[in-house]
Amino acid sequence: MKYVNNIDAVNPQQARTEFKRWAGHGLVSIGLVNPKSATNVASILRACGCYGASAVFYTGQRFGYAKEFNADTKRMRHIIPTIGVDDLLAIAPKGASKVVIELVEGAIPLPEFVHPVSAFYIFGPEDASVPESIIAACDHVVYIPTRNSMNLAATANVVLYDRMAKSDYAASDELIKNSRDNNNGLAL
Ligand SMILES: C[S@@+](CC[C@H](N)C(=O)[O-])C[C@H]1O[C@@H](n2cnc3c(N)ncnc32)[C@H](O)[C@@H]1O
Repeated sequence: MKYVNNIDAVNPQQARTEFKRWAGHGLVSIGLVNPKSATNVASILRACGCYGASAVFYTGQRFGYAKEFNADTKRMRHIIPTIGVDDLLAIAPKGASKVVIELVEGAIPLPEFVHPVSAFYIFGPEDASVPESIIAACDHVVYIPTRNSMNLAATANVVLYDRMAKSDYAASDELIKNSRDNNNGLAL
């Protein structure tokens, strides 16, 4: 296992706290095959913060060259480790099922998929697909039954939302208060 590029300083204490916070719900992490757009990665980091994924691993150099974190307005990159690696399969977190999200013939439609307790979700790049070598080595291959292929960050958001919706999720006004902006005092 080799880290090739840790693109930003992660506060280790904060990262550990986040890890522990979500450990009881199973650990979720994201693998990105050579992502092209930093904006997409930033949106995925924000989704990780919203839904409780612990880390983002990515391959390739393109993301490192294009660091503009416009969409990472919650500055999740300082909390969620965002780590460049040369092999996503080698970095797969211990105990996590490897789940490829891709338009692959024979894949399981997401609405029917039962998410593993701990999962490593792997997504392809904006301009290609998850390589066959990764698909062959994964535990599950899942697709979203859309009419066209989705934007990468949108796909990650949908998958994490689907996981949350099928889980024993917490719902409360307290959660709404904690999630929303300071200038939002809306109530029914
Ligand atoms: C813009 S897509 C790339 C093109 C896509 N590989 C294709 O064959 O059309 C970027 C990534 O988002 C994910 N993705 C997009 N739409 C998807 C869908 N409907 N089901 C599963 N994955 C999807 C895949 O991981 C894909 O590699």
